[in-house]
Amino acid sequence: MAEILAIGEALERALALLEGGDVVAIPTETVYGLAGDATNGVAVARIFEAKGRPRFNPLIAHVADRAMADRIAGFDPLSARLAEAFWPGPLTLVLPRRADSGIHPLVTAGLDTIALRMPRGFGGELIARLGRPLAAPSANSSGRISGTTAGAVAADLGDRIRLVVDGGATPVGLESTILKVENGRLRLLRPGGISAEEIEVVAGAKLSRGASGIEAPGMLASHYAPGAAMRLNVEDVAEGEALLAFGRNRAADWERAVALRNLSETGDLREAASNLFAFMQALDRAGAATIAVEPIPFEGLGEAINDRLARAAAPRDKNG
Ligand code: TXA
Ligand code: MG
Repeated sequence: MAEILAIGEALERALALLEGGDVVAIPTETVYGLAGDATNGVAVARIFEAKGRPRFNPLIAHVADRAMADRIAGFDPLSARLAEAFWPGPLTLVLPRRADSGIHPLVTAGLDTIALRMPRGFGGELIARLGRPLAAPSANSSGRISGTTAGAVAADLGDRIRLVVDGGATPVGLESTILKVENGRLRLLRPGGISAEEIEVVAGAKLSRGASGIEAPGMLASHYAPGAAMRLNVEDVAEGEALLAFGRNRAADWERAVALRNLSETGDLREAASNLFAFMQALDRAGAATIAVEPIPFEGLGEAINDRLARAAAPRDKNG
């Protein structure tokens, strides 16, 4: 089983494992990441192996600072402005990769673009000490809910990795927002921890949405799947269902629910985002065949929450 070390005592051990081409689960402000040296093909292969992830799905490379980012990718003026505004933080930018980036091709699945993010806190410190970028997908088996606590990560991946760094529950609770500038226009590839509205204020323009072409493989429809089926936007609770609630007003027949968690009693979408994955897991463990989910408004972080719920509810394939 993986060793679990608190952030205050984990840095040297994590560095030693990463230097040796091994993988380590680390906290970031969004979700836990399964990190490996992005310049080391063996380390990157171990990430895919531990997750059981299809190899065509490219990974995010995490950097410590803009100088490290500039050695890997080229920044257009709008991407530079977004990085300035939101890094370190829950924003990932897809950028043209430099030919001499040093990034192992397994990270980008052969694409000539690369997804870059600068995480806050322990991750940033670890990358700065290592002096090399870390490839890190969310720390969960492929298709499962992203881990937002060290305990959830250890329960899922603990028999396949050696160290989980425990930074407590991740504050944002959802993966980063992924953006790409294309012909001067800003496209939202994945809604996430920074809302579209916040980004539009900085960009001074509207985001365009919807996957196209090469981005699609990473955005598999069925993802974040709990064992239970999911029924969304419910107005009532059926016999035997668990209820994932939101806000003050309950769905009809809510007393029937075999288990209940409220994402946010006060209807706060930030609080709801931070609780989403842990509460889905808790209801899943309660053993109901179906989790009924009350409607979540689409504004702010509600877009990302609804995106994750839709993926969790989608027909299951074995590729997620
Ligand atoms: O918050 C996060 O982003 C977390 C933490 C650990 O940093 N990471 C994360 O990574 O969610 P992952 O691997 O689960 O999701 C990465 C997403 C995938 O949907 C992938 O398709 C997309 O990033 N992606 C990676 N490289 C890309 C590229 N060159 N072009 C378009 N999409 C890309
Ligand atoms: Mg993931």
